[in-house]
Amino acid sequence: MRALQYLNRYLKKYRFLILLGLLFTVSSRVFAVVAPSLVGDSITAIEQFIRSGEANLTDIKILLLTNIALIIGAALISGLFTFSMRQTIINVSRHIEYDLKNNVYDHYQKLSLRFFKQNRVGDLMSRISEDVSRVRMYVGPALMYSINTVTLFIIVISYMVSVAPKLTLYTLLPLPILSFLIYRLSRAIHERSTLVQQMLSKLSAFSQESFSGINVIKSYAIERNRTSGMVSISKESRNKNMSLVKVQAWFFPLMILLIGISNVLVIFIGGNQYINGQIELGVLAEFIIYVNMLTWPVATVGWVTSIVQQAEASQKRINEFLSQKPDIQDCIKATKKLSNFNISFDNVNFTYDDTGVKALKNVSFKLQSGKTLAVMGPTGSGKTTILQLLSKTYLPNSGKVSLGDFSLEEYAQKDICEIMGVVPQQPFLFSDTIAHNISFGKPNANKLEIEKAAKQASVHSNIVDFKRGYETMLGERGITLSGGQKQRVSIARALIKRPKILLLDDCLSAVDTETEEAILNGLRENNKDTSTVIVCHRVSSAKNADYILILKDGEIAEYGTHEDLVSKAGYYKELYEEQRSEDDKI
Ligand SMILES: Nc1ncnc2c1ncn2[C@@H]1O[C@H](COP(=O)(O)OP(=O)(O)OP(=O)(O)O)[C@@H](O)[C@H]1O
Ligand SMILES: [Mg+2]
Repeated sequence: MRALQYLNRYLKKYRFLILLGLLFTVSSRVFAVVAPSLVGDSITAIEQFIRSGEANLTDIKILLLTNIALIIGAALISGLFTFSMRQTIINVSRHIEYDLKNNVYDHYQKLSLRFFKQNRVGDLMSRISEDVSRVRMYVGPALMYSINTVTLFIIVISYMVSVAPKLTLYTLLPLPILSFLIYRLSRAIHERSTLVQQMLSKLSAFSQESFSGINVIKSYAIERNRTSGMVSISKESRNKNMSLVKVQAWFFPLMILLIGISNVLVIFIGGNQYINGQIELGVLAEFIIYVNMLTWPVATVGWVTSIVQQAEASQKRINEFLSQKPDIQDCIKATKKLSNFNISFDNVNFTYDDTGVKALKNVSFKLQSGKTLAVMGPTGSGKTTILQLLSKTYLPNSGKVSLGDFSLEEYAQKDICEIMGVVPQQPFLFSDTIAHNISFGKPNANKLEIEKAAKQASVHSNIVDFKRGYETMLGERGITLSGGQKQRVSIARALIKRPKILLLDDCLSAVDTETEEAILNGLRENNKDTSTVIVCHRVSSAKNADYILILKDGEIAEYGTHEDLVSKAGYYKELYEEQRSEDDKI
C-alpha cells in the first residue's frame, strides 16, 4: 500500500466531499436494513394468526399493509441516499483523476530530453491514461464499496447478534475462511496484473511507433513484419491476461459457494432452533434475507481487494516517473539577469552519459553579440551538441559556457529560453494552423508579426498559395508541408520571438541555394543585434558568417573567417573546392 500513499494528498483535498459521501452511505445502509426486520415481523404475525386464529384478520391486514408501506418508503429513502453516495464519492474520484492526470502531464513536461529518449512515447501515454484510470477505481468505487461493506456489516451483524447470537455465530462461520482465500487470491492478482499492465504499455508503445513510422513501414513494404511483431506482443499480452483472468475467475464461485453454505447453515440450525421454540419463524426469514444481503458486500471485499492491488501496481508505475527529477534544475545561484549576449565557450568538455560518447573536447571560442558563427564538420562531430550546451539543455562536464559576464548555470532556464530562438535539426510542427505554428514562438503575436516572420523565413509566398493561407491546418488532419517548407516555418517560429541569440541547426539543408541566400541575407539585415550560430553543411551557408568553426570528432579543427580558411589546406577548403566544382558543372 506504500505507493498509494501518494494519493493521500488528494483524499485530503476532497475530505469534505468524502465525509459527505460517508454520511450518505451510512444513511442508505440504515434504511436498507429496515426491510428484513419488517418482513420478519410480518411472517411472525401471520404465523401466530394461523396458529392461534385469535387475532382479528383486519388487524393483521392493517399490520401487513403498514409494513409494506414502510418497506417501500425505506427502500425509496435508501435509494435516494445511494444515489447521493455515488454522486459524491464517484465525483471525487473523477476530480482526483483530473488532478492526477494534470500533475503527471505537468511533471513529464519538466523532465529533461534524456527522460524522453529513455522512455517510449506509448509507455508515457499508457501511464497517464490506463494507469491513472486504474488508480481512479481505487479512490472511487473501491472506497465507496468499502465504506458500504463496513457500514452494512456493522449494522447487520450487530442487529443479528441482538436477535439470535448463536445463530449469527454459525451463519458467519464461513467468513474468516473467505477472508483468507481472498487474501491469497489478491496476492496472485497483484503479481499478474503488474505483468498485464507492462504488456499493455509495450503494446501501445509498439502500435504508436508503427503509426508514427507508417511512411517508412510502407515504403519498405514491411507491414507483414510489423504485423507479426504486433501479433507476438498481443499473444504474450493475451497469455498474461488469461493467467490473470484464471485467478480472478475463482472469486465469484467461491463467494457463492460460501454464501450458499451460510444459507444452508441458517436453514438447518435456525430450523432446529425454531422447532425447539428458541426463535420465531420471522427470525428465520429475516436471517435468510440478511445472509443474502451480505452476499454482495462479501463479494465486493474480493473485488475491492483486487482493485486496490491493481491500483497499487499502477500507482507504483506512475510514481516511478513522478520521482524522476529533471537533469538540470535551476540552482540557487540562478539569479543573474541577462544583460549582454556575448557567447563564450571555455575549454568545454562534454560526454553523453547514456552512450558514453565524448561529444566535445576542449572546445573554446568567443562570439561577440550581433555576430554570426557558422559551425561545420562531418556528421557526428558535435555540432548539435554545441547548440544543446548553448541552450542549457545539457551542462558541460568541465569548462564553462557563458553568456555575457556569467556562466549559463547562473541564469534561470526560463530567462535563457526567452532570449533564444532555436530551430532544431528536425523541425516539428503541431497539428494546428500554420499561423499558430509560427506564433508558438510568441503566443500573443498579431497577424502582421506572423506574416513578417514568414516573409523573413521566405515561406510567406508558399503559405499564401494555400487555399486557406495562414489558417491552413497542418499534420494529421491537414496538409503535409514539404521538407523545405517545414524548415522555413520552423525558422519563422524562431524569428517571431526577435531573439537575442538565434541557433539554427542545419535547418536550410532542404531549401535551394537561392532561397538559402535570401533567408540568410534577410537575417543579417533584420537582426543586426542578434548573435547567430548556424550549423550547416554547405559553404554557401557559411561563407558570409563572421567566423567559421570546423569540428572534427568533437575538437576544433579549424577556426577563422571564410578568407582565412580557404587560404589554407583543410576540411573547409576541400569542401569549398568540391562544392564550387559542383556548381560549375551545373
Ligand atoms: N542525446 C544523445 N545521447 C547520446 N549520445 C548522443 C546524443 N546526441 C548525440 N550523441 C552522440 O554525440 C556525438 C555528437 O553528436 P551531434 O549530434 O552533436 O553531432 P552533429 O555534429 O550534430 O552531427 P550531424 O551533422 O549528423 O547532425 C555523436 O557521436 C552522437 O552519437
Ligand atoms: Mg546535428
